[in-house]
Amino acid sequence: MTSTDPHGTPGTWWKTKADMRNPVDLKTDQPHSARMYDYYLGGKDHFPVDRDAAERTLAVFPNARIAAQANRAFMIRTTRHLAAQAGIRQFLDIGTGIPTSPNLHEAAQGIAPDARVVYADNDPMVPGSVHGVEGRDPHRQRGWDSGRARRRIRQGVHG
Ligand SMILES: C[S@@+](CC[C@H](N)C(=O)[O-])C[C@H]1O[C@@H](n2cnc3c(N)ncnc32)[C@H](O)[C@@H]1O
Repeated sequence: MTSTDPHGTPGTWWKTKADMRNPVDLKTDQPHSARMYDYYLGGKDHFPVDRDAAERTLAVFPNARIAAQANRAFMIRTTRHLAAQAGIRQFLDIGTGIPTSPNLHEAAQGIAPDARVVYADNDPMVPGSVHGVEGRDPHRQRGWDSGRARRRIRQGVHG
């Protein structure tokens, strides 16, 4: 991986300040679908174990790379449609994945700068990656939620 380290500490470039206070286990000895997906998309946020699993998947499903690209392109087209044609201003992205640009908030806020976005993913590496694109958004109309959104969804579903 070649990303720069915002904290000046080698090997911690992916961590937010909150992560530095509360370390999370990335389980880099096990492949994770978010990091395999990032590998398919040509990203840089993956470990050898993810690349190995991704290559073994490609051996039996050669379209995995194209499927990932098509899936992400669909997400961007859908977001732009919802913002432009349906007037949606709040987005909850469950299963965000490691972000590429444009990501959902850029697509939504490119149409509607006041659109609000919450990202959620169960890969502990994704929040740091999402925070890594914050500098591009002067409005900061988005957030990261690892628990509050889930509680609110459950409350909504079960009354
Ligand atoms: C196929 S990727 C989709 C990425 C992105 N939404 C896109 O459209 O390109 C699926 C993502 O869902 C996440 N995921 C899988 N199970 C999940 C769960 N139970 N809760 C939250 N995220 C989950 C994975 O970590 C992965 O990042």
